[in-house]
Amino acid sequence: MPTYLITGGAGFIGSHLAQALTAQGQTVRVFDNLTSGKMQNLRAARRGKGEFSFIEGDIRDLQTCQQAMQGVDYVLHQAARPSVQRSIENPLATHEVNATGSLNILWAAKEAGVKRVVVASSSSIYGDVKPESAPKEEALPPKPLSPYAVSKVAMENYCTAFYNVYGLETVRLRYFNVFGPRQDPESPYAAVVPKFLFALQEGQAPTVLGDGRQSRDFTYVDNVVAANLAACTAPEAPGQAINVAAGVSHDLLDLLQVLGELLGSEVEPKFGPARSGEVRYSLASLEQAKQVLGYAPKVDFRQGLARLVELARQGRYAD
Ligand SMILES: NC(=O)c1ccc[n+]([C@@H]2O[C@H](COP(=O)([O-])OP(=O)(O)OC[C@H]3O[C@@H](n4cnc5c(N)ncnc54)[C@H](O)[C@@H]3O)[C@@H](O)[C@H]2O)c1
Repeated sequence: MPTYLITGGAGFIGSHLAQALTAQGQTVRVFDNLTSGKMQNLRAARRGKGEFSFIEGDIRDLQTCQQAMQGVDYVLHQAARPSVQRSIENPLATHEVNATGSLNILWAAKEAGVKRVVVASSSSIYGDVKPESAPKEEALPPKPLSPYAVSKVAMENYCTAFYNVYGLETVRLRYFNVFGPRQDPESPYAAVVPKFLFALQEGQAPTVLGDGRQSRDFTYVDNVVAANLAACTAPEAPGQAINVAAGVSHDLLDLLQVLGELLGSEVEPKFGPARSGEVRYSLASLEQAKQVLGYAPKVDFRQGLARLVELARQGRYAD
């Protein structure tokens, strides 16, 4: 039975990966320093059939990475400082975790003879491309707008170098605005879906930054889990960058409207100043994901939001 190491496994996406793998009876080791992750996110993973263990540690520490890597077959590398805004406030801290920490993980994986490392990269590396409405394809040259995006480009470049130089199998998954249960709604850096959902649930006016016409390819977390699991074994995946998204773009006002319909709530938003460093339009091409991973989104935008609203209604958002 292979062993999976999930860095950042106590976070939003990592905890869903851990849950899916232990449900299949796989052996899972989570490695997390609990900065934005929480132990309670791992309750479902612990209930699965598979063996589960947890290492509290920091990917900035090479020795801990080396210890965590012993006996590991696949690494799903999710640990990061994941916000554009935080990276603008402190680019050095973002670089330390996302670039240097990722380098530690790759080096430790190479030394331990890991079969494959699948990393969480980001659509933000594309920046604003022309024409704006065109789907972003993996072959586009990265044009990072924020220090966060730069740190993900650095991580990706290390992945490519490790594949070319050491033959370590690396797969770079470029996530597009993932949403789902357990995504933190309260942090000042919270993503827009949980922020809007919780504001509407409380009957408060959600704040839209900018004109609300900025669009995103919102992706339900189950799609991201499926892509990661496929990326561990797909024969053509090593050395590749692959978009993971729903393949449809919605702007923030659309998002508010659908959430309002699902919640039966009619709250008018407030508008605030637009943020710098953020892309305006985002839509993924899924051709590469389809060809290399056999990926197709299982849950679309509206279905994903409906699931989320239902869980929030039942008080099971954090389960
Ligand atoms: N959520 C999205 O829409 C999205 C989009 C694109 C890319 N990503 C990437 O996906 C990954 C997971 O994101 P998420 O939304 O689940 O975020 P998250 O903040 O919920 O998870 C990140 C996890 O990493 C852990 N962590 C942070 N620094 C660490 C360190 N130094 N050592 C060990 N663990 C550390 C945190 O405690 C947390 O559990 C990140 O790499 C992020 O950049 C997310």
